[in-house]
Amino acid sequence: MERRSGKELRELFLNFFEEKGCKRYHSFSLVPDDPTLLFTIAGMVPFKPYFLGLKTPEVTRATTSQKCVRTNDIENVGRTARHHTFFEMLGNFSFGDYFKNEVIPWAWEFLTERVGLEPERLYVTIYLDDDEAFDIWHNKVGIPADRIFRLGEDDNFWAAGPVGPCGPCSEIIYDQGPEFSCGKPTCTVGCDCDRYLEIWNLVFMQYNRDENGNLTPLPHKNIDTGMGLERLASVVQRVPNDFETDLFRPIMDKACELVGVKYGEDPKKDMAVKVISDHIRASAFMIADGILPTNEGGGYVLRRLIRRCVRYGRLLGIDRPFLTELLPVVRESIGDEYHELVEQASAIEQVLSTEEERFSRTLAQGSDLMDSEIAKVEAAGGKELPGDVAFVLYDTFGFPLELTEEMCGERGITVDKDGFEAAMEEQRERARASSKQTSSVISKNVYTELADKIAPSPFCGYTETKCEADVKAVIMNGALAESASEGEEAELVLSNTPFYGEKGGQVGDTGTITADGAVFEVSDTVYPVADLIVHKGKVVKGSIKTGARVTAEIDAARRADIQRHHTATHLLHEALARVLGKHVRQAGSLVTPTFLRFDFNHFAPVSLDELREAERIVYEQVLKNSPVTTRVMPIEEAKKTGARALFDEKYGDEVRVLGISDFSTELCGGTHVKNTGEIGLVKIIREEGIGSGIRRITAVAGTQALPLFQAYGTAVMSLVTMVGGDLDSLMDRVGAMVDEKKVLERKNRELQVKAAMSEIENSVKPVASVNGVDFIAEKFDNITPDLLRQIGDRIRNKYPNAMMLLAGVGSEGNVALTAMASDNIVKLGANAGALLKAVAAELGGKGGGRPTLAQGGAPSADKLDKAFAAAPKIFEELMTKGK
Ligand code: ALA
Repeated sequence: MERRSGKELRELFLNFFEEKGCKRYHSFSLVPDDPTLLFTIAGMVPFKPYFLGLKTPEVTRATTSQKCVRTNDIENVGRTARHHTFFEMLGNFSFGDYFKNEVIPWAWEFLTERVGLEPERLYVTIYLDDDEAFDIWHNKVGIPADRIFRLGEDDNFWAAGPVGPCGPCSEIIYDQGPEFSCGKPTCTVGCDCDRYLEIWNLVFMQYNRDENGNLTPLPHKNIDTGMGLERLASVVQRVPNDFETDLFRPIMDKACELVGVKYGEDPKKDMAVKVISDHIRASAFMIADGILPTNEGGGYVLRRLIRRCVRYGRLLGIDRPFLTELLPVVRESIGDEYHELVEQASAIEQVLSTEEERFSRTLAQGSDLMDSEIAKVEAAGGKELPGDVAFVLYDTFGFPLELTEEMCGERGITVDKDGFEAAMEEQRERARASSKQTSSVISKNVYTELADKIAPSPFCGYTETKCEADVKAVIMNGALAESASEGEEAELVLSNTPFYGEKGGQVGDTGTITADGAVFEVSDTVYPVADLIVHKGKVVKGSIKTGARVTAEIDAARRADIQRHHTATHLLHEALARVLGKHVRQAGSLVTPTFLRFDFNHFAPVSLDELREAERIVYEQVLKNSPVTTRVMPIEEAKKTGARALFDEKYGDEVRVLGISDFSTELCGGTHVKNTGEIGLVKIIREEGIGSGIRRITAVAGTQALPLFQAYGTAVMSLVTMVGGDLDSLMDRVGAMVDEKKVLERKNRELQVKAAMSEIENSVKPVASVNGVDFIAEKFDNITPDLLRQIGDRIRNKYPNAMMLLAGVGSEGNVALTAMASDNIVKLGANAGALLKAVAAELGGKGGGRPTLAQGGAPSADKLDKAFAAAPKIFEELMTKGK
């Protein structure tokens, strides 16, 4: 067998299936167009609607090497030879075209003849009752019956989730040899150990499973196959695990170099290096596909991956930022297949370093928590850190269990691993429960049925504001209706429409649809499914029937305002990229008649100067009155023009490219002004952060800018009237007033403290007298420790020879303690340090100091009254002892 590289194997596979008539697609995004999944978890995900028969594919045979992310086994990464979070799945797919008879012999041909795997090392598994598959494997391919294993639902029935397309499957197994065996007498095909490696899964996708678990046959019989490229490479390259293939080795080597580890010397260190290598690759790909670290959904997964990388780095002794130093090797190892890694290099780098830095701060907090928890264990005389604490450290602060163990180990403390596992299992249960809840299905509804039945709605609104059309459907309460009458809310589908359905951030149009004597007011226009434009609104006069001839007319003034804001958004996008850097990419947008909102990635607040410069560039383009043009072209050609594209949009083969002279080109399906001069002034009114590394700009354009400036003008002139003077002196006057206010506030605070102090001085009285020494014990609320000292000094003015014990209860219920004694009474046996230590101990806190001055504190004020009641007695005992 020829030792091929990962890249060669990928090519070999895709070429082979191209020969079999499959269209080769570039990998689709890691972010699926599917609400039931956080990530693309298999090659079939982007094709799901074709399997379900909800959409007609452009071809019936396809092949991909698909980027996938699966994180359900994240803790196994690095521990086993095969687990990854990110991997490439080699797949070939038939949408109602070829089936078992073709795909089984092809798979065999590919593995044995093209790749050169030894037939005597291959086994196959099939679903229990799949005699058809048995027959093909045995009689057509010639596999002996004793090498074909029939396994149950867990192994040989595949589904992407609890609901959706699924079917029996057949797996091809490679025997790595007895040296890989777990050694159990039961070890055979189907065993979980490394000997019998599943390399390729052929799914005969022929059912749809609904929410109740019922299987119904799909409209066609389909094929979905998946082979892990990393796995195949490990077999072909004869290495014991995926991490030692050429797909990973350069990343591993670089990671080893950075952390100073020699691979192969210590399994624990090897594991940490594997985790880092896996997670950095996954993180880079996720960021390239537009995912950013956040606290929910896919963003949370990314955050965990990055944090685990950092933690494992620390575990290996590296405590400076290091993640971005791995990026060049990630790009070199795989970037020529996935250009997004190169194109987004600077964004990936910035996101990683920001998150790494942010996490370093969290880590410091986690270490504090660990210290205080260890202190608690020690105080209670224990030797074991509770499992739930280890879990919080793991889950909230990203500490791998090993790290917690190691840090505890240094202090002679063990970790309750069973408790940790139990907490982890609870978390998994919660995750499972919630993923079940959110796994809504792509189910048929009135819209998908309509889209199947009628032609796509042609949109004439790029050029027209009004047109004649037929009513193709009236929908009321989610079902088709014959007609809708006066006063009723309904949705209309037309044969042709100038109404823009909300899409790509641009809101839907409003307007009217009229027929003989009937008026339907459109309040919104949407695309409930691709290609189907639905007009939502209310019949205000007469009745609208299916089949009626109508006139559809949008609110053209409102649309003109929307268009101004839309073209302004494109100008702003380009202007920001010029001012802030090429990494600026749209992360979302909202284009309305009254404002625009533009979200983009950037790692610091945009300064006032930068905002002003962006506004200036936009205005320059407006004044040029450049023509705005659109061209429809194949995606490849569009890419060559350098057009900006959004990562969350799925483009068909033909795309619409919007150009604003030679200033900006961007893929866009929205409606725009004809010349930039129509936009008028564009004014940014707000800039804010809306998540890690994402900024949001809100701006107004055109007709909205004048009232804004008028309002600004009115406000400023009212201020002038209020503070006197004129416009030129306004800033100085207001500035002086603000300064003056600060001075007055400070003075006022000082007076308050003074008043409070003298009240204290007057009200405080000794609570006991021991051997002629007065004892004062006082509690105060919301007092800081330094203020406590000042109060003590005041009281001393009145009682120079008293022992003072003062407590301040903080806003969080914690207690600060101070004890003070004069030299005179120290000579008599008083000792502030000893007193404070004893009282703090009563409170479950700590403290001490000199005989004249001592300080301390306790976490809670619960026992404060009791401790104060006991204090005179304690003082007496200490005096007696001290004498
Ligand atoms: N979709 C199948 C899998 O992921 C091929 O195993």
